[in-house]
Amino acid sequence: MNERDWVAWHRTYDDPESRQSWRLGVVQRRIREALDAAPAGPIRLASLCAGDGRDLLGVLADHARAPDVTAVLVEQHPDLAARARDRAAGLAGVRVVTGDAGLVDSWREVVPVDVLLLCGIFGNVPDGDIARTVAALPGLCRPGATVVWTRSRRPPDLVPIVAGWFGDAGFEETSFDDSADGMAGVGVAVRRGDGRLFAFFPDTDHAFVQELDPGTGAGKGTRFDLPFHRVDTFAIAHWGAFLYLFAVVDRTPRLYSLRPASGEVKLVRDLLPFTVIGAGVSSCAPLLERE
Ligand SMILES: C[S@@+](CC[C@H](N)C(=O)[O-])C[C@H]1O[C@@H](n2cnc3c(N)ncnc32)[C@H](O)[C@@H]1O
Repeated sequence: MNERDWVAWHRTYDDPESRQSWRLGVVQRRIREALDAAPAGPIRLASLCAGDGRDLLGVLADHARAPDVTAVLVEQHPDLAARARDRAAGLAGVRVVTGDAGLVDSWREVVPVDVLLLCGIFGNVPDGDIARTVAALPGLCRPGATVVWTRSRRPPDLVPIVAGWFGDAGFEETSFDDSADGMAGVGVAVRRGDGRLFAFFPDTDHAFVQELDPGTGAGKGTRFDLPFHRVDTFAIAHWGAFLYLFAVVDRTPRLYSLRPASGEVKLVRDLLPFTVIGAGVSSCAPLLERE
């Protein structure tokens, strides 16, 4: 993240009319909604680059679900982390880590999370880091998890692109609030993991992918035709909103992606530097079951 005086940055919250205070109000409303909607049982939450933690801790101070929450706030600046720790006094499930939020080890105890706060981050890191962070979220968030994120809308406005990255990672945008001056935004994205089963049919003259009924094994819904045939070996995996098809076609190992929501098939890489052996339905995502 870029170098700034983050303690001074927090002083902008002292002005209730500031854009930052508006943003705080929206973030807190979205956190409340996520907690209100959380199913009964434990709720795991992480706030990355948490600052003094006033957004989350302000909500937990009086929310009925606070006793169910295990939360980790990761903040690099020791003074801000200390302030967050003071604010969290009395909240048994909250831990404040003084450390680097980019290292998942700092907050691994709450992964996969039910709620993730990425506030005040995307305006301060390179675009490529935002893309990589969003692409990694399916492995860090439970299906149904809520991610609250913020980003300045100053030109060049990256918000539509970031929203697209969330879509590519299998998240649905459930709200987006713009400040009155149009310069700041707060997005909420919910991870849709609908547990659908897809299979790859490498028929010699008509390869296709189709969803299967997990109870009967019968094909159902659209057949996604693939732009190749004569498949020698293949494997299928998924990540976010995409299926990935590894196939040796005419002795050439290739990787294709298929997005079931749109039916779009793309050649990701020709001439893979390895061969493909084996078949089946697999997942390249980490397992997300809880203990
Ligand atoms: C723009 S502030 C946002 C604070 C808080 N999330 C909010 O919205 O009020 C960014 C915060 O990220 C912290 N930070 C910067 N790099 C970090 C890193 N690698 N790991 C953890 N915190 C970091 C800064 O110290 C600062 O408090």
